[in-house]
Amino acid sequence: MKTYNLALIGFGGVNRALAQLIADDPSRFAALGFELRVVAITDLAFGSLVQGGGINLADVLSMPRGSSFEGLAGGSSDPRNEQVIKDSPADIIVEATFTSPVDGEPAVSHVRWALGTGKHVVTTNKGPVALFGRELTDLARRNGVTFEYEGAVMSGTPVIRLAKKLLGGLELSAVQGILNGTSNYVLGRMENGLTLDKAIAEAQALGYAEADPTADLGGSDVRLKVAILANELLGANLQPTEVETTGIQGISSDDVADALAHGKHWKLIGEARRDSDGRVAASVRPVALTADHPLAGITGATNAVSFSTDLLGAYTVSGPGAGRVETAYALISDIIAVDQFEKVANRV
Ligand SMILES: NC(=O)c1ccc[n+]([C@@H]2O[C@H](COP(=O)([O-])OP(=O)(O)OC[C@H]3O[C@@H](n4cnc5c(N)ncnc54)[C@H](OP(=O)(O)O)[C@@H]3O)[C@@H](O)[C@H]2O)c1
Repeated sequence: MKTYNLALIGFGGVNRALAQLIADDPSRFAALGFELRVVAITDLAFGSLVQGGGINLADVLSMPRGSSFEGLAGGSSDPRNEQVIKDSPADIIVEATFTSPVDGEPAVSHVRWALGTGKHVVTTNKGPVALFGRELTDLARRNGVTFEYEGAVMSGTPVIRLAKKLLGGLELSAVQGILNGTSNYVLGRMENGLTLDKAIAEAQALGYAEADPTADLGGSDVRLKVAILANELLGANLQPTEVETTGIQGISSDDVADALAHGKHWKLIGEARRDSDGRVAASVRPVALTADHPLAGITGATNAVSFSTDLLGAYTVSGPGAGRVETAYALISDIIAVDQFEKVANRV
């Protein structure tokens, strides 16, 4: 059976969840014909650890945050990302660190180092895909590897690969989505009578919203996802800054009540649409949807994407758009895509 060696870059919520899934059931992928071995981990807090024979995941998962890999065989207190990505015996770099929406760092450097040294990359980071998707896909192709990023748009709920693989025979004219669970939760609670501020406080208490919810409510999180959908599925070449963006902060309790009285529901809609002249325009803005719209009934922190197609009409997918384990599943689906790539290349 083929064994893929993984290097986990970033050891926070998502990569720990992936490590836990592998540790709990190492034979989980046996039916697919491969097994996974983690040979390296780097993290700002823990430092780096490289063990070519395989890291004991239960041991590292039991280490409290604040402790260091220094002192373990192959361990160091510095993250040493570049060295680990380029020189460790990993076949697949699992990138789940932080990303700046302005320059995509540090994640984009991690991805470039990996692809440039002929290693596959799977990532849940939006930034590198939204800002440099084409360049990185091209770099992967030139180096005979693949760059996979299903989790960048809707966490573990398949959207990108689903559309590329299964909707390929359809003409796609638009993609609309509810792509931020926090803002959808807040708008839903406003329909139950809460003010914007109270709904935000509740979302924070439940762990849906960050202490600083600006990126969620202001639309900048969705803007990156819309740029990815426009570029990946509608063949556009947009930078996130070209996606006209308005958040939900301007929506008042009166707006929500007025809409409800007319059978409408406010949603933060990310949209990419091909005009009759072939140009793709993209936006993020609050829209009061009529009840018959495919996205009007999406409630709570759930995410959804509706594809406008020629033969099926509107085709809609909904599911979780966040969560550690859910997002770790996106990495698993990416690793399965890597395995399929290797099989097509006759390397396994
Ligand atoms: N969690 C979700 O529901 C979800 C859903 C979709 C996409 N994502 C994306 O997936 C990625 C990971 O999410 P997460 O929830 O796991 O975040 P997280 O818990 O904050 O984990 C990120 C980890 O990466 C570390 N890190 C940051 N910069 C690093 C660097 N330069 N070198 C090495 N390690 C570094 C962080 O260390 P420090 O804590 O010390 O900074 C942290 O341990 C993010 O890009 C996120 O946007 C997450």
